[in-house]
Amino acid sequence: MQGQLSQKERMLLEDLKKEEDLCVIKYQSYASQAKDPQLSQLFNKLAGEEQKHYSTINQILQSGGQFQPGQQGQGGGQQGQGGGQQGQGQKQSQGGGQMSIASQGMQSGGQMGQAASKINLNQMGTGGSAQQSQDQHMLHDMLSTEKYVSSAYDTGVFESSHPNIRQALQKIQQDEQGHGEQIFQYMNSHGMYQVQ
Ligand SMILES: [Fe+2]
Repeated sequence: MQGQLSQKERMLLEDLKKEEDLCVIKYQSYASQAKDPQLSQLFNKLAGEEQKHYSTINQILQSGGQFQPGQQGQGGGQQGQGGGQQGQGQKQSQGGGQMSIASQGMQSGGQMGQAASKINLNQMGTGGSAQQSQDQHMLHDMLSTEKYVSSAYDTGVFESSHPNIRQALQKIQQDEQGHGEQIFQYMNSHGMYQVQ
């Protein structure tokens, strides 16, 4: 019993793994598209962290209830795969990912419509350059993605019956919230996200 993941746990973990994979692909793709080098650097850094999450989820799936948090350290080895990130050309070709950005951005406009804050889209029309507006769309998309992924981890935490796995998922969820914060800070300091 201790060693086995339930079918539900396994399904949730498989979903999370797909989300992590998508995050890696999107951050890498956006890093190469960002006009601001500082933003490119931020996206690359976050891509590396998502790659570690992917490895951790993979290990949980392989180890089941035997998963030990220490195993996450091995992620270092797997990060080496990160180098192989370039090999993801194949994945990017799936990457209608990029095409859907515009529409996702729109959806997320709704999701993000929190009372206390506002994405400053007006800026794009007048002062902001087309390049800045493209960076802004990518940031907006990733903020929305992080928000979604964080909530998916919430479900994973609640559904996990193994303390070690639960802790690992909590840790990753915290990371995702941290990513959201870093994206917010960038947007805020560049006049793209005004707190009201
Ligand atoms: Fe992640």
